[in-house]
Amino acid sequence: MRRLLFDRLSRIAEAIHDERSPAYTLATEIGSLAELVREHASVRIEPTEVRGNGESWTGDGLALSPTMAGRCADDFARTVVFIRGLRRAIEESRAFAPDRPTRILYAGCGPYALLVLPSLTLFGPDALQVTLLDIHGESIGSAREVVDALGLGEHVERYETIDACRYRIPPERPPDIILSETMNACLAKEPQVSIARHLHRQAPAAALVPESIRVDAYLVHVAKEFHFVEADSVVDAAPERDRVFLGRVFELSAETIASWTAVGDERLPAGAIRMPDPLEPHYTPMLLTEVVVHRDHVLRSYDSGLTIPKPIPHGGPIRGGETLAFHYRLGAKPGLVCEIVGVE
Ligand SMILES: C[S@@+](CC[C@H](N)C(=O)[O-])C[C@H]1O[C@@H](n2cnc3c(N)ncnc32)[C@H](O)[C@@H]1O
Repeated sequence: MRRLLFDRLSRIAEAIHDERSPAYTLATEIGSLAELVREHASVRIEPTEVRGNGESWTGDGLALSPTMAGRCADDFARTVVFIRGLRRAIEESRAFAPDRPTRILYAGCGPYALLVLPSLTLFGPDALQVTLLDIHGESIGSAREVVDALGLGEHVERYETIDACRYRIPPERPPDIILSETMNACLAKEPQVSIARHLHRQAPAAALVPESIRVDAYLVHVAKEFHFVEADSVVDAAPERDRVFLGRVFELSAETIASWTAVGDERLPAGAIRMPDPLEPHYTPMLLTEVVVHRDHVLRSYDSGLTIPKPIPHGGPIRGGETLAFHYRLGAKPGLVCEIVGVE
């Protein structure tokens, strides 16, 4: 039975890993992966689930409930790009240290350990060892059921039910890769920044997956963001967008984490931008998120729920000539905060 399930997973993984297929064409394959894991997990996706049931507000942001975390699979381009980027990060780590297993710390593995499963079909337990960590015991129990059903137990070094922001990495077993997808567009609400910062400080040689999350400010002509294609049209050109880059507001990466050593636990530094004057009325000031999972495995605007553009978080109107200064607020309600600091 386990062999049959493993073979089923391997076939799905092969299709997902085949980089000749663009991520947005693989909804069916991700559906098959989600179906396979949900058949063997105690966390099921109920259509009647009340959003918010079972979630936890931690001191560093929102931890999605086991059911909502299980639904993340369905953001299928996200899932494909993370799976492919992780596989490439593992290959790089194997090339660097081929004589010992690569260690992954998967912080926020959810109820299916979804993002790592396809890689477990490519590398044996002597080549790849994983610590599965989640704040929700129900998710860890469910992930263990999936791992056992697929006969992948030998790949798992440890199961940890703990807040990742309180986790002490065993110093004798530092991870080679820290994997976490605990984020929202513009790094709002969920604890990705605090988790990456807390874990990477303990294992600064580890590769982060995602390797960089960037939030940039743009003026966006919203009406030109999409174009509608007639159902019978054979032309499928990309829309000609009209955006003006204003500047990088924030980045989460190994380099920025290293630069925050002398920074406290309330706020992190972020960029400032100046609005052009005059500010043409058809433009909306927006923040665009880009997730570089690994090298050229990247999620850009609209590829995923994680990269939906958002208006600049400022309570009132923004005028031409104003300078906007940002910082990243840490704590229970994390996110970018913007203040107007000057007008020219
Ligand atoms: C967005 S879901 C992603 C689930 C899965 N990794 C995936 O990509 O499909 C985030 C997961 O991280 C967990 N999580 C959030 N904050 C956490 C924290 N501070 N410590 C440990 N786990 C956390 C949640 O419980 C949830 O399972």
